[in-house]
This record gives sequence, C-alpha cells and structure tokens, in this order.
Amino acid sequence: MAIDPVCKMEVEEQQNEYTLDYKEQTYYFCSDHCKKSFGENPERYLTPERGFVSERKVTIVGTGNVGATFAYALMMSGLANDIPLIGRTPEKVQAHVMDLNHGMMFVPPARIYEGKYSDCRDADLVVITAGKPQKPGETRQDLADKNTEVFRQIIPEIARYNPRNLLIVTNPVDILTYAAIKFSGLPMNRVIGSGTVLDTARFRYLISSHCEVSPRNVQGYILGEHGDSEVPIWSNVLIGGVPLRQYCPACDKNCPTGELEDIFSQVKNAAYEIIKGKGSTYYAIGLALVDTAASILRNENNILTVSTLVDGFYDIHDVCLSIPVLVNKNGVAKTVKIHLEDTEAEQLRSSADYRKGILQKLDSA
Ligand SMILES: NC(=O)c1ccc[n+]([C@@H]2O[C@H](COP(=O)([O-])OP(=O)(O)OC[C@H]3O[C@@H](n4cnc5c(N)ncnc54)[C@H](O)[C@@H]3O)[C@@H](O)[C@H]2O)c1
Repeated sequence: MAIDPVCKMEVEEQQNEYTLDYKEQTYYFCSDHCKKSFGENPERYLTPERGFVSERKVTIVGTGNVGATFAYALMMSGLANDIPLIGRTPEKVQAHVMDLNHGMMFVPPARIYEGKYSDCRDADLVVITAGKPQKPGETRQDLADKNTEVFRQIIPEIARYNPRNLLIVTNPVDILTYAAIKFSGLPMNRVIGSGTVLDTARFRYLISSHCEVSPRNVQGYILGEHGDSEVPIWSNVLIGGVPLRQYCPACDKNCPTGELEDIFSQVKNAAYEIIKGKGSTYYAIGLALVDTAASILRNENNILTVSTLVDGFYDIHDVCLSIPVLVNKNGVAKTVKIHLEDTEAEQLRSSADYRKGILQKLDSA
C-alpha cells in the first residue's frame, strides 16, 4: 500500500494506472484528478518530514452537537483536507470519525481522524466548542465561571502548539474569547470568537423573509454581546443597496409600526426558542463557522461581526465584543469604522459595560 500524497488516502501500488515519477521516486494516486493536481505542483504536497503537507488543517476541540455539525459542514465545503477531532469521550469521537468518513466518497477528499492536542500543531485554525452547558436556573456568571475553568485547562494545551488562529464558539463566547487571549498568550488578532456572526445571519434572514428578497440582498449587523444585550444597527441596514428607511416608504406592504422591534425580538430570542424545541442550536452555527473559517483559510478579507478585543471603537476598551472587522489568514486584520447613531453607540457601550462586570472577575483571578 502507498499513500496518495494529494488526498492522503491509502492506494494500491500493484496495477495502479495513476502513477507519476518525480525526483527518482514513484508516487501512486487514487484518481487522475489527484495525479493531475500533484503533477501541476509536486512540491506543494511534499515535505521532508511528513511526505506531504496538509494544505488546510482545521482542528476541532469539543465534539458535541456544534463541534460535530461543524465537522460535517466543513467536510462538505471542501475547505479543509486535514480535520482532527478532539473530544473527551474517545468512543464518541471515534463514532463521529467513522460516521463522517463513511460519507467521504460523496465529498472532496479530506482526512478526518481522532486527534490529540498535538494535532493543533500546523493548524490554520483551531475551533473550540468544548464546554459545559448552561443548566436551568444557572446565571450567565455561573456559566462563565464554569467554562473559564475548562478554558484554563485546555487553552494552554492548545496554545503550546502555536496554531495560526483560534476561533472560540463556547458560551458565553465574548467572555471566553477574552479568557482565551489571556490564557493562550497568542497575539489578540489571532484569537477570535464566533460572536454575533450567527445573530447577524438571523437578522438578515428575518429581514429578507419579511421583505421578500434574498438574504444575500440584505446588509446589516447585530453588534455587541452575543446574548441579551446585543444591538441591532438599523441605521445601517441596506436592501439591495437602498437604506431601509428609504426602502420601507417605497414598499407597498404598509407594515404596522412595531414590525422592526418584532424582527429584532425574534433574533434575540431565537436560541431560546430553538433550545426549547430541540435542546440546542447547531445547523446555522455550523454554517456560520464554515463561513468564518473560509475567510481565514482562503484569506478572503470578509467583513464579519466576530468577537474581538475592542480597543477604542466608539470609546470602548479592553473587552471582547462583536464589531465589524476584516477577517483574513491572520485573523482580525482591521476594524471597519461604520457610522452608528448616538442611541446605537450608547447601547453598544452598555453592552460592553455589562460584559466588563463579568471580566473584572476573570482579570483578578
Ligand atoms: N457562539 C455561538 O453563536 C454559539 C451557537 C451555538 C452554540 N454555542 C455554544 O457552543 C458550545 C457547544 O455547544 P454544543 O451544543 O455542542 O454543546 P454539547 O454539550 O453538545 O458539547 C459540548 C462538548 O464539550 C465537551 N467538553 C466539555 N468539557 C471539555 C473539556 N474539558 N475538554 C474537551 N471537551 C470538553 C463535552 O464532552 C461535549 O462533547 C456551547 O457552549 C454552546 O452554548 C455557541
């Protein structure tokens, strides 16, 4: 048996018609597609120590509903070809690995396997979904305390292998993004939280559904905390490039007043509603994580509302919150200074103050 240097699958050497000689060595491939990719640029797939390089490695820490759903969405996207899964329960991780690999013939080639923390080495991105769930009756502060303790153990284990970027998903995500920056010692631009990317997607979907246009034609942001104090930036909403405040009067729907408040209330309460129905939310966040991963892995410079350490945006300092930032291979490249109305800026500062109360405890620990 040989290893196909492109897709990393085991292949037969005997009677293999897809072979290629390079630098006095014969390489064997699973298909003409892999042979062609290799032939175009062999060095891309070869390193002295490993025989091949992983082009795009995404390590997933935590294999509950969100971790597993993200792995599934990532595998379908073809964005990464090296996907180690790290979890606490080996049987469960192995079961996910088997289940995902059994679908491999339907998706672009990737290597999915049970990983160890050392598999954070060379990772373009480590996505962290590990944590304890919020129990009924527990406060956000209780949850922050519990998951900060989980992060105190796992973040140094991950950071010692110096992955290129960390993406935090575990809630409360803004607090834990701050904790991850503190515990990892990594540059702050390389540690980001999923923040309000999902809330922003819900916001755009609900506006699009109300206005009967595609979500792709809606621009607009939810900023601040991923949670109860998040802020809808209505002044910035565009439909097909037209500001909402011009679009509405020109539309013949004649909506009753209170329609916008109703849309935002649906955004804010979406997670509670879904959790009530099926226990947890995982499909849309899985896709939101693929979108953020794409911006990092493909160096896309996509503007996203990820959670980042804010330093001066509308006079907010030293707190992790979602603001619009440019995301590329280095994580957060820069802040996009959008205009906020006074009431929106005030609400954003209140959202920051609310987070700061919880962070003070972390800073003094
Ligand atoms: N930011 C967002 O937009 C967003 C959206 C959805 C869910 N979430 C959050 O994502 C997290 C995961 O959600 P879920 O539904 O997958 O929860 P889950 O309970 O199904 O999975 C959590 C996993 O973390 C593992 N875990 C716990 N402690 C660990 C440790 N020390 N080391 C390794 N693994 C550990 C558990 O074994 C479990 O498999 C939660 O905190 C949830 O609130 C965030």
